[in-house]
Amino acid sequence: MTDTTSPRHVGTTSDEEEAAYLEVALTDAQAGHETQHVQKPAPESVARETVLVLDYGSQYTRLIARRIRECHVYCEILPPTTPWAEIAARRPKGIVLSGGPASVYDPGAPSAPDELWRSGIPVLGVCYGMGLLARGFGGEMARMERREYGPATIEIEPSPTALTPLPPLPDAGEGEALASGAGEGEALASGAGEGEALDAGVGEGEAPGNQRGEGETPLYGGRLPSPAHGRGVGGEGIFAGLPTQIPVWMSHGDSLARLPEGFRVLARTPSGVAAIGDDAGHAGLQFHPEVVHTTGGLTIIDNFLKRLCGCSGAWTPANVVDESVARIKEQVGAGHVICALSGGVDSAVAATLIARAIGDQLTCVFVDNGLLRHDEAKQLMDTFEQHLHIPVVHVDASERFLTRLAGVEDPEEKRRIIGHEFIAVFAAEAQRLREEGTEIDFLAQGTLYPDVIESAGHDTVNAARIKTHHNVGGLPEDLPFTLVEPLRYLFKDEVRLVGVALGLPERMVYRQPFPGPGLAIRVIGPIAQERLDTLRAADAIVVDEVRKAGLYRALWQSFAILTPIKSVGVMGDGRTYHDVVAVRAVTSDDAMTADWARLPYDVLAAISNRIVNEVPGVNRVVYDISSKPPSTIEWE
Ligand code: XMP
Repeated sequence: MTDTTSPRHVGTTSDEEEAAYLEVALTDAQAGHETQHVQKPAPESVARETVLVLDYGSQYTRLIARRIRECHVYCEILPPTTPWAEIAARRPKGIVLSGGPASVYDPGAPSAPDELWRSGIPVLGVCYGMGLLARGFGGEMARMERREYGPATIEIEPSPTALTPLPPLPDAGEGEALASGAGEGEALASGAGEGEALDAGVGEGEAPGNQRGEGETPLYGGRLPSPAHGRGVGGEGIFAGLPTQIPVWMSHGDSLARLPEGFRVLARTPSGVAAIGDDAGHAGLQFHPEVVHTTGGLTIIDNFLKRLCGCSGAWTPANVVDESVARIKEQVGAGHVICALSGGVDSAVAATLIARAIGDQLTCVFVDNGLLRHDEAKQLMDTFEQHLHIPVVHVDASERFLTRLAGVEDPEEKRRIIGHEFIAVFAAEAQRLREEGTEIDFLAQGTLYPDVIESAGHDTVNAARIKTHHNVGGLPEDLPFTLVEPLRYLFKDEVRLVGVALGLPERMVYRQPFPGPGLAIRVIGPIAQERLDTLRAADAIVVDEVRKAGLYRALWQSFAILTPIKSVGVMGDGRTYHDVVAVRAVTSDDAMTADWARLPYDVLAAISNRIVNEVPGVNRVVYDISSKPPSTIEWE
């Protein structure tokens, strides 16, 4: 298990870390200035075709959101406790209920808003979500004796037009189902009362976000839409375009015991019902369409979006550029924005978007802490100034950082000093700008969607991360400026696509994550200029060879560490007693877990040969073959 309570920094990118420093720095610089409250931008979802995912805690929830966006439909994840008014205000074209660890019959198991069932909004229930859907429309689930988990093959019903009798449940009789949960009365009570008004703040006719066929009921008002909306189910609907048998990934502890009225069985496994649906745009799947183990899973999701929800699928990250530019212009008006560049992709993309929107009302500041990789500072300056024509204030603070870090060994102390110095340098720069007559109204941040999801409060990881930032700088509650966060609704890979659309060079857009404290936490033991130089040279060789082998983008991170160990070697005729460099290369999806990369021996050999031959003072190279957990990616 990952230890999220450790004070050590939890998986973030340099941009995120910098963001925390920045907020503190500007607050310090503006102390005494009138406090403006942070204004969050209006939700993107209102402006475009949106599908919502209610998160019941499945490890795959984010994957559902990603798949939806892969189908070119904008999507947001919300906690299931979100008030209906907030859900309705986003005018969703469809809602996905995710899987989750609970059983729908557990006491206190999370539920879906009652209004959902009578809203007419198409719903896809996945695993736990299917249980909610079935019960929401008056069906029954029964607890299975053992949770079914893993691969299975489903058989799609050839002609799912007739109501098909359910197979008997071997392990959960009717008695249990009824005793453990809703009786018929209760289940029916959650169905819609005809014409019942919704207090969603969205009046009938006001929010026909969905393009519906003639004669269909508008969204959010009245009863279920007409059957025409479902455009058929099974072979024509959710399973359109798929063979009759498909391998899927199952994970469920409840199983369908009674179909809701108007629903049909759309697919089965030998052990029970695998999918149900009606003609009104509601479908439930007992398996996970979002994981790669489900063949055709993306088609199923696409069918839900396009066939059941009527989405056009016109959303692409590149569209984000135009929308964001317009929104930034509106938000900033005649104000002035300050943006710190870290060398990472998030701050680079955020700055480029903002520059496109407001030109010289943006000041980019790059604090060079002397802890960056080989050539990184120069590349950053060249890219912005020569390639993008965005001026950057380059503050070379490397000496200041190195003086403060000289001889420091403890990793947390290194982090603390770096955070502190960053704040001091940035605040001084903000103050200088102000003295020159530039009043700073806004701070740009490269906040990404996963951070937003995490700060929604149902993710313990975030609690740990914020705590770390507090430890670093003491984040104030009332920030004296407004945030501009143009990437707030994007995933990392979407940010990269936006970066490409903006003309940022691929080298910058696809750069591997780099920790905020930089090389300081890769020089193990005391920091000194010459040790940083040794590490920088070795690291450049690792990156170069990995790139040459075409592996750079396949790896989450690949880098060198300068160990505090010296070892004996022979070079030419002489004996040496020199440094040991470690090489680390990992694969990962999110840095929460990571596996050491099985780099080809030839690549390792080239790295090793070049380091001992080209980097003075190094006579031995070792390869780190530890995974996370129990190790971490960084050594300090
Ligand atoms: P670990 O070493 O915890 O790293 O497995 C997970 C991810 O986080 C990065 N990392 C940091 N990023 N400041 C940062 O901005 C830090 O202090 C820090 N420590 C680790 C690490 O590079 C990896 O991507």
